[in-house]
Amino acid sequence: MRRICYCNITYKCNNNCQCCISHNVRKGTDKNLGLDDYSFFQKKFSLGANDVWTISGGEPTLNPEFNDIISFCHNYSEHIVVYSNGRTLSKIPTETISKIERIIVPIYGDETTHNEYVRSGNAYRETIDSMVKVLDYDKNKLDVKILFIDPQKGISFLKSSEWNDIIANNHFSISRVIKNGQHEHYQDICSAASDVIEPLLDLNKIVRFYDLPLCKLRLGTLSRILKSVNLTGSFDSNVICGSTEHRYTIFPFNKHTDYFPKCEGCPNRSICARVMQNYFVPVIVNGVVYIDTE
Ligand SMILES: C[S@@+](CC[C@H](N)C(=O)[O-])C[C@H]1O[C@@H](n2cnc3c(N)ncnc32)[C@H](O)[C@@H]1O
Ligand code: SF4
Ligand code: SF4
Repeated sequence: MRRICYCNITYKCNNNCQCCISHNVRKGTDKNLGLDDYSFFQKKFSLGANDVWTISGGEPTLNPEFNDIISFCHNYSEHIVVYSNGRTLSKIPTETISKIERIIVPIYGDETTHNEYVRSGNAYRETIDSMVKVLDYDKNKLDVKILFIDPQKGISFLKSSEWNDIIANNHFSISRVIKNGQHEHYQDICSAASDVIEPLLDLNKIVRFYDLPLCKLRLGTLSRILKSVNLTGSFDSNVICGSTEHRYTIFPFNKHTDYFPKCEGCPNRSICARVMQNYFVPVIVNGVVYIDTE
């Protein structure tokens, strides 16, 4: 049984995304997690080689102990997943990069769209430069996360000249920007997402999904995904989380989807729930989405 230790190690950020999902980033919460917190988690839960460290923020590379935290986690498990906006990744030592299993970097569209969304004129260029550096080092380390702000914006990145470099990478995630917790335009965004997912699958890329209800994807895309789902994996259905108020919390994430009334009787309900909750368990085993059988 694989367990997930998910921590936001800082709430500082060098972007200012229009719809940042993190309440603590928007509030400017001044709290870093450090080596002592990680040592506490490791001892408390005896975390080891089979478990996953998921490290996010804020922008985690801005935590002054980032390199030390990665080294600490790597002593216990090689499954280290980092969410980063990519801007400062190129300054992280190669030794640290080598210890991370996967770095998930979001792109919101072409240069103009991305910079407008993250509200910084230099972000796109810095993020792309970092991505290219990481993928030149190892094509399986980076996960390029393409997000749709609206049905067209994610696709604009695929028409950019930078895409010609990025397509060499092996791992991609497809997601959507959730605006004020709203779930509108699912159909249009999922159709547009299908138009990105299908060509990536044709190229034998490894593709993961976040917050895309399976039934809203195009039928052909859905059947390809269902064929690739691995139902043999097994995760603990609780996430161990760092929190600002408590030393740790246990977060139950394996709940069912409740997006539409028909979810109640849907045969794909447990698969859909896990695909949409990939955020906490962004691990792929043997190129397929790894699903808990419950
Ligand atoms: C909160 S960020 C923290 C890590 C890092 N700063 C980054 O942006 O990658 C973690 C992930 O949440 C995603 N995210 C942030 N706001 C979101 C939203 N409104 N809807 C969907 N995903 C969102 C980002 O794309 C990113 O992959
Ligand atoms: S880069 Fe990440 S943490 Fe920073 S504002 Fe954007 S989504 Fe939030
Ligand atoms: S669980 Fe709900 S959202 Fe998912 S495929 Fe079934 S009906 Fe669609």
